[in-house]
Amino acid sequence: KRRTAEPFKIKSVETLAMLSYEERKQSLQQAGYNTFLIDSKDVYIDLLTDSGTTAMSDAQWGALMTGDEAYAGSKSWKKLEKAVRDVYGYQFVLPTHQGRGAENILSQLKIQKGDYVPGNMYFTTTRAHQEMNGATFVDIIIDEAHDPTIEHPFKGNVDLAKLQRLIDKVGAEKIPYVCLAVTVNLAGGQPVSMENMKEVYELCQKHDIDVMLDATRCVENAFFIKEREAGQANRSIAAILKEMMSYSDGCTMSGKKDCLVNIGGFLAMNDEDLYIRSRELVVVYEGMPSYGGMAGRDMEAMAIGIREAVDDHYIAHRIGQVRHLGQQLIDAGIPVVKPIGGHAVFLDARAFLPHLSQEEFPAQALAAALYLDSGVRSMERGIVSAGRDITTGNHNKPNLELVRLTIPRRVYTNNHMDVVVDSIVDLYEKRDAICGLKMDYEPPTLRFFNARFSPL
Ligand code: F0G
Repeated sequence: KRRTAEPFKIKSVETLAMLSYEERKQSLQQAGYNTFLIDSKDVYIDLLTDSGTTAMSDAQWGALMTGDEAYAGSKSWKKLEKAVRDVYGYQFVLPTHQGRGAENILSQLKIQKGDYVPGNMYFTTTRAHQEMNGATFVDIIIDEAHDPTIEHPFKGNVDLAKLQRLIDKVGAEKIPYVCLAVTVNLAGGQPVSMENMKEVYELCQKHDIDVMLDATRCVENAFFIKEREAGQANRSIAAILKEMMSYSDGCTMSGKKDCLVNIGGFLAMNDEDLYIRSRELVVVYEGMPSYGGMAGRDMEAMAIGIREAVDDHYIAHRIGQVRHLGQQLIDAGIPVVKPIGGHAVFLDARAFLPHLSQEEFPAQALAAALYLDSGVRSMERGIVSAGRDITTGNHNKPNLELVRLTIPRRVYTNNHMDVVVDSIVDLYEKRDAICGLKMDYEPPTLRFFNARFSPL
């Protein structure tokens, strides 16, 4: 098989820090063994998140200078609005400062206290906004998604029977919308099939329930449909994406991922009444409906990024790079969430460190050990991230105890991925020497950001 390479060449470079083992050790101790608290200047390869970490193209950098910074009626907004309409197909668009800005407005307008919002697994900020507005989140993802070892081509799919049961139990009038994430971040970047999206939409239409997409990584989802679903292989990513979005009534979007920019987001819909009411709240929380928390130059960059992201070569390389990392780990026998998803490879810390109990924070310990070994920064997605039960005060104990290796878009080469593989394989060979952690400082909310640990 002939090899392929990055579908871009490098015009500007950023020098990476390469600290010694002793320096990394000191940095890790200063950060309380929490990768969120490590200074970025001390990180070699930063796989903390794919959010806002994208490298922009020369076209985007060039467009920054043309940003129209008028307070009202910015030309740059018109370009962004047109890009969203052209590529995603929604009629009405409102800008927000990032994804959670759109989530805030949508949740406030659609949710009444006592409502239920079904979703295919939760995302932290999305669920927080639903709950703050008085809704109960109900997980309707297929069971397979909660098991890291099960191979399923569309592990993000909705279990229609679970959705139907909820409708029967609470009544459609208590369900303001279904929140459908494409792809599903916390399940491992797993996609939803076109067929499933269509079925969810049809079921919801029958009951007069809206489908609102969390479109954050929708282009990655489109790629998996092209690759895995019957009859889709010869279609363009752009065509698949537009059909996907047609099975929904609107979306919230974090532009920091699949719109290939460092900041920004939007809320889109086809219902004019919802649009008018949302526009009022954009003014309250975000800014004028012609900028919504973004500078004119940010909107220029996003308008271009939206179009660049549906380039078939770009997205094939993007998913290919995540797979380049993941497949090598699988081949080396490292336990990871399968199949490899769209934006990240997730290490299964329970299987990696079977000698640690969940109270010894295996995923946190593994993330710390990886940084110490090679300066690679990852993110804990396990018991620390899951927080405590509000009523009992006990740790929430999630099934999945994961370390997320999240690949920024267009930033690293496959050589960087190989360095990550070597470090993880070495760590796996000496995994018995990795000890657990104890939590020395625990913040009351969203503890994973600021918690501090030390080795047991
Ligand atoms: N939805 C999903 C699925 C996300 O992954 C994120 C952010 C958001 C919504 C919120 O968007 O950050 O623009 O306000 N995920 C980042 C991550 C933070 O690291 O996974 P935002």
